[in-house]
Amino acid sequence: MKIIMLGAPGAGKGTQAKMIADKYSIPHISTGDIFRANIKNGTALGMEAKGYMDQGLLVPDELTVKILLDRVAQEDCSNGYVLDGFPRNIPQAEVLDRELAKLNDGIDHAIDVDVPDENIIRRMGGRRACVSCGATYHIEYIRPKTEGICDVCGKELVLREDDRPETVGKRLDVYHEQTQPLIDFYNKKGILKTVDGTRQMQEVFHDIVEILSGSKQI
Ligand code: AP5
Repeated sequence: MKIIMLGAPGAGKGTQAKMIADKYSIPHISTGDIFRANIKNGTALGMEAKGYMDQGLLVPDELTVKILLDRVAQEDCSNGYVLDGFPRNIPQAEVLDRELAKLNDGIDHAIDVDVPDENIIRRMGGRRACVSCGATYHIEYIRPKTEGICDVCGKELVLREDDRPETVGKRLDVYHEQTQPLIDFYNKKGILKTVDGTRQMQEVFHDIVEILSGSKQI
């Protein structure tokens, strides 16, 4: 099963993608996480990506597409995967389609986690991410057991550089301009489903599982 998660920055794509990956035992592939790991390790790719990410801009397709295609070609992706943050624009979606078509394959589901901009701004300001393992929390909705400390690895939780209010506005502009057209792109292919991402995360997940099991048509 090959799944794409769509939605604005902070809509909950990553939260839901992790839950899907656990339930269906498929890899969760986040291009944002791949870039953040490269930044943490000080790679040339990470340094280049950071300049764009900190401004709320997309990393150029020349850097992003190859990383993603290399990742989905790995052995653990043979039974499918859930993509979180890719594709981010129509050219990325077209490359992915072309590469999958060469293998007589294609995306099975595109799930749009729909959350209005005003909720997004509140969510991003409250998100805290682990400096070491990248696990995410929220100061109101998903609190760690000890304030400021990651439950998973015990390291410090911080506000992501690109979650600062001045950058979130830019990310939303980029989303509406470049990423939102993908909703229409996948709708025309007949594989788009939309879930109301403003509800509790378990309720959102319940809807997604019904979609993936074919028991819900939204
Ligand atoms: P990326 O890491 O992909 O960031 P994003 O798409 O902006 O998404 P986020 O990770 O910010 O949010 P999310 O939707 O996953 O929400 P989450 O589940 O964490 O990309 C970062 C940057 O990398 C981009 O800006 C770009 O520069 C670059 N990049 C990445 N991919 C690229 C590509 N393909 N091409 C070019 N550039 C690329 O949830 C958010 C918060 O809300 C959390 O605190 C969470 O706990 C909370 N929450 C989640 N669900 C709920 C709920 N139902 N109710 C209440 N709170 C909730």
